[in-house]
Amino acid sequence: MIKETAPSNIALIKYMGKEADNIPSNPSLSYSLPHLLTSVQISKIEASEDQWRALESEYAIELSEKGKARYLKFFKKLKDQFGLKSSYLIESANNFPSDAGLASSASSFAALTKATYSLAKAELSTADFQALGFTGEFVTDREKLSALSRTGSGSSCRSLFDKWSEWQTDFAVEENFAYANLLHLAIIAEEDKKEVSSSDAHIKVKSSLLMEGRTARANKRLADLKNALNEKSWEAAFEICWAEFWDMHALFETSEPSFGYMTSDSLMVLNECRTYWKANQDGPLVTMDAGPNVHLLFRDDQRSCYEDFVKIFENKFKIWGSES
Ligand code: PMV
Repeated sequence: MIKETAPSNIALIKYMGKEADNIPSNPSLSYSLPHLLTSVQISKIEASEDQWRALESEYAIELSEKGKARYLKFFKKLKDQFGLKSSYLIESANNFPSDAGLASSASSFAALTKATYSLAKAELSTADFQALGFTGEFVTDREKLSALSRTGSGSSCRSLFDKWSEWQTDFAVEENFAYANLLHLAIIAEEDKKEVSSSDAHIKVKSSLLMEGRTARANKRLADLKNALNEKSWEAAFEICWAEFWDMHALFETSEPSFGYMTSDSLMVLNECRTYWKANQDGPLVTMDAGPNVHLLFRDDQRSCYEDFVKIFENKFKIWGSES
């Protein structure tokens, strides 16, 4: 049996808008989150088709029929890529609650890509494996795997990397900044399933007049954020991330027809963040995905700030963090 895991990731420069095969309209930059991890195990079965089931665990994954079909279709694509002919059972689990609005396709698709790579490595001869262009060393092969994973779920291509990762077009690459280790806290403003999936959001934003200039804005913020992270300009990094997630949410709200994820609770959390920054001249990086939850990233010397935010929100909302 083959077992692999992959983390989720949180983007600070956002992937929003895509072409065929999940080629993004603009580059993105993310930080991987190992406390939001998917584990996948694959075993051979005597059956005519591949199967998926949730691994028994504290946090069992629930997949809709559509979600299961998408996952198995991607597995079939991976099998074809590696020339794997048998049928397999895929079992997966998360190390975080699946009903909290934190589940993303990033960790599950990246973990499936990694597990299928390991399966192929075990089943193929070294010569056959190398003929496919793989060395067998994960770190050497992971940009190729990132490109494969991208075709299943765009943001999953950044989940092949342990920390920072930048994605321009086909695949993501590892990045290193002066801030090597960050703490993460998610404030769960709403747990319900989203009405518009991120896959649909990528299509819908094309109707927004604000799409004009979006690629240039994302490119500019990417360059500025990389500078800020290299030069340890935390406050500048905060301002760039704040502007960037509002830019993405403005695309949602100005699409035709418009849609959105921001709730009064999201706005309340954002307001608390701004108040904290004003009072302390310091605070976390703040971002939101295509959903109502707010993600906070702290430097590793900001543990007491992290605790402050836990205290502010723990009695009002569910929270899920790297330090709890
Ligand atoms: O990979 P998808 O199709 O779920 O898109 C994810 C898009 C955002 O989470 C909103 C932004 C990002 O870069 O992860």
